[in-house]
Amino acid sequence: MEKAPSPLPPSRQRMSKLTTFCGLSLLFFLFVVPPRYSDDLSLRLTWDSEPADAAATLSRCRALKAQAGPPDDFHKRSESDRFVPGTKPLLIKRAKIWTGRSNGTEVVHGDILLDKGIIKSVGHLNAAILKAYETNLVIVDAKGAWVTPGIVDIHSHLGDAPSPALDGAEDDNSPNGTIQPWLRSLDGLNTHDISYQLSITGGVTTSLILPGSGNAIGGQAFVIKLRSTDERTPTSMLLEPPYTINTSLPNPNLPPRWRHMKHACGENPGGEYKDTRMDTNWAFREAYKKASDIKEKQDEYCSLAMAGKWKGLGEYPEDIQWEALVDVVRGRVKINVHCYEAVDLDAMVRLSNEFQFPIAAFHHASEAYLVPELLNRTYGGPPAIALFATNSRYKREAYRSSEFAPRILAQNGIKVLLKSDHPISNSRYLLYEAQQAFYYGFPQNLAIASVTSNAAEVMGMGHRVGYIQEGWDADLVIWDSHPLALGATPSQVFIDGIAQLQDAYVVQKPRNYQELPKVPNFDKQAQEAVEYEGLPPIAPKKATCDTTVFTNVKSIYKPNSNTVEMQFSAATLAELGVAVAQNGTLVCSGTHTDCLSSFDYTCATFVDLEGGSIAPGLVSFGSPLGLHHIEAEDSTNDGDVFDPLLKPTPKILGGDTAIVRAADGLLFGTRDAYLAYRVGVTSGITAPTHKNFYSGLGVSFSLGAAHKLEAGAVIQEVTAVHVSVRHFSKPSVSTQIATLRRLLLGPQEGASGYWFQKVVEGEIPLVVEAHSANIITTLIILKREVEVRTRRPMKMTITGGAEAHLLARELALADVGVILNPARPFPYAWEDARILPGPPISKDSAIMKLISNGVTVGVGCEEIWSARNLPFDVAWVGVLSPKIELKD
Ligand SMILES: *[C@@H]1O[C@H](CO)[C@@H](O)[C@H](O)[C@H]1NC(C)=O
Ligand SMILES: *[C@@H]1O[C@H](CO)[C@@H](O)[C@H](O)[C@H]1NC(C)=O
Ligand SMILES: *[C@@H]1O[C@H](CO)[C@@H](O)[C@H](O)[C@H]1NC(C)=O
Ligand SMILES: *[C@@H]1O[C@H](CO)[C@@H](O)[C@H](O)[C@H]1NC(C)=O
Ligand SMILES: *[C@@H]1O[C@H](CO)[C@@H](O)[C@H](O)[C@H]1NC(C)=O
Repeated sequence: MEKAPSPLPPSRQRMSKLTTFCGLSLLFFLFVVPPRYSDDLSLRLTWDSEPADAAATLSRCRALKAQAGPPDDFHKRSESDRFVPGTKPLLIKRAKIWTGRSNGTEVVHGDILLDKGIIKSVGHLNAAILKAYETNLVIVDAKGAWVTPGIVDIHSHLGDAPSPALDGAEDDNSPNGTIQPWLRSLDGLNTHDISYQLSITGGVTTSLILPGSGNAIGGQAFVIKLRSTDERTPTSMLLEPPYTINTSLPNPNLPPRWRHMKHACGENPGGEYKDTRMDTNWAFREAYKKASDIKEKQDEYCSLAMAGKWKGLGEYPEDIQWEALVDVVRGRVKINVHCYEAVDLDAMVRLSNEFQFPIAAFHHASEAYLVPELLNRTYGGPPAIALFATNSRYKREAYRSSEFAPRILAQNGIKVLLKSDHPISNSRYLLYEAQQAFYYGFPQNLAIASVTSNAAEVMGMGHRVGYIQEGWDADLVIWDSHPLALGATPSQVFIDGIAQLQDAYVVQKPRNYQELPKVPNFDKQAQEAVEYEGLPPIAPKKATCDTTVFTNVKSIYKPNSNTVEMQFSAATLAELGVAVAQNGTLVCSGTHTDCLSSFDYTCATFVDLEGGSIAPGLVSFGSPLGLHHIEAEDSTNDGDVFDPLLKPTPKILGGDTAIVRAADGLLFGTRDAYLAYRVGVTSGITAPTHKNFYSGLGVSFSLGAAHKLEAGAVIQEVTAVHVSVRHFSKPSVSTQIATLRRLLLGPQEGASGYWFQKVVEGEIPLVVEAHSANIITTLIILKREVEVRTRRPMKMTITGGAEAHLLARELALADVGVILNPARPFPYAWEDARILPGPPISKDSAIMKLISNGVTVGVGCEEIWSARNLPFDVAWVGVLSPKIELKD
């Protein structure tokens, strides 16, 4: 995880003693039968002094060579091992089915029959099959909706880092050392994480639960299905767990199941006393040498035992602490490596060749797209690459990530997966990651496969999840739109044939949302990403002429006090409009004749909008955009302000009444600012960064400016006074409120007094980061207190606001605006646990609840990299709002 920065011995058989001759012929037999399904052989060897448990040992020896994976007759099963008795057979009619077959290109229009926890039939079902079910069958009419396999997440910390986060349940990183292949994420899998249900409402049905990245070898990972079970235990959530979970020695008569393990390279391993890359890689080699030695000893032991040479052989060599890593060098464990940069990927590829073990996937892998040849050299073939779509640059290792990485890797024949790293990103929106990758040029078939079939294959579960195919698990999702249309939301989710949503709220979407969305051509940008090793020039170019003419304009929106109004709309696609801007101001819009005749075009830049629209620039708020280059690198950032509530502010700064301006710390030309600017987020409002109560004076600035002296670089030097009132902050919430009360109503002293006086007089807003409804009500009361005293309105804005929807009416009455951040809330902590999740769980989304009650609402950006996604976030609001009418 990226920290925001976790004996039943085999049945002992009685042996029949045999002659040497029989022993020899048996020996021959042992070497030719495939060891996989070794039967209990009744013929046994006698040679030297055979120990009493020789047969058991021999069957263990034979089992060493068995490959992991399902038995060959797996698909002959008639019932899933996860079938819940009483689950009725179910028929989904009239579906548009993305099956996952043929490289993700097969779409079948037809029906799907589910029974006994598995998919019984797909396509046009014949009457005879259906007749057998006649009375019992539940019928769901999909009415032509898209149906995909359940979403499969290759990287999650669900349960091990549960939500809301509480100190007592952080179980994803052991503080105990670099190499810990013996630990198991299963042991920390909390069954009360509210995210299981939330992620299911995003279509997620299966996740690989990885230990965190705090150690080089963090431990064993486990595949779970997210639905609740009657047994209510972590074990009952597991999908095809290895037999070692409840026994020291696996049953040699069963084919070994895939095991999973987490590795991490680079910055994260080593915990408090950070290991250098050299330390980590030696730790890896030392551990792998140890495991390889044990493997070799076992193999030697077994070749003697199989030859009947028991004399002096002693005990079978093994070590319960190292058995999992021994299985890795036997090729029976899917290794998932948190690994970002070329330097680290290179070291891991060398390690895989030195100790001859395959790697299932590199995760995060921000530079993988720059080194495809290296990936090809991994022992056993190139690993899959598990990426975020746009979550980048939060740390040095991720600085060269590219949104074009999925398409570039795919072009090099590398399998690409999108992953959540939940709760780092909310796995409820894992499909959105695939949608973004698709937008930036990742082929559509691979985009859907990256969170279904391909993810299942990489976790060794492709034989039962990730496809809609006869014999596979009955895990599927009915969507309210094409799965790659932004905001696609399940109207029903099935896990093991069990419907997961009661009363799903489905938003009626325009017809064209059922089709594959049109996406831009980013060929040039993708090529530049590689050419400039992840840092292509992205500074805006200055126009060479004062005049810019936009042609083929479909509509134009203009700001008008509190709203945005349509100023022009083309009557038909054949009569698209024109807009003319001069020196940054729109001076004319309308038809060709309206505009083109009245200007001198000796110098003009023409831009063909191809039927697009012109709208006001978006404003980013909520992250330290403009104060940070790389979140995790202090030397690239403005840094945190002093908090006089925690310790005295230096006298030289003015003591405890000092208040700083974000404007003084602005960093122009950050990559995140430029990337946001490119997509129409033209300005940012940022408060001084702080970890506790006290912040300072916010600033509004241009995201396209190269430095502060450029015209228009600083839009408004001081926008508001900012503070945070949170349960995370110190000291107590009541102390923070008392401080705020004194700052507002007490004697106004020094610089902070000057600005708080302006707040009290209603001249500038007080912006308070608050999430809990209890804190928000206290703030509403405090505002009233001030207003009673001054007899004039005070301006207050709440940011964060996860629980604000509970107070929609009260906020409207108090005239308090809310900037929802994140815009689609997530119950990170206790103070924001009571979210309004929105469709399909609740009819209203938080944002619509606030708007419909008359609250002025803004859409926030959580992190500096996410400013570039603001246009998508705004579109999400529209897509999931039943009251906003969407036109085709
Ligand atoms: C799978 O699809 C991708 C993208 O459409 C294509 O480039 C690739 O060649 C296909 N692979 C196979 C094996 O057909
Ligand atoms: C973890 O490390 C500490 C300090 O070295 C040690 O005292 C403790 O026994 C270790 N715990 C486990 C479970 O290994
Ligand atoms: C041990 O776990 C396996 C799943 O791997 C399960 O089938 C079996 O019932 C469990 N045995 C016991 C004794 O709990
Ligand atoms: C990697 O190997 C694949 C399969 O052999 C091949 O198609 C691809 O071109 C190779 N890529 C590079 C960059 O060598
Ligand atoms: C744009 O601004 C420049 C500099 O202020 C000025 O010289 C020029 O006349 C302006 N152009 C128009 C069309 O207003």
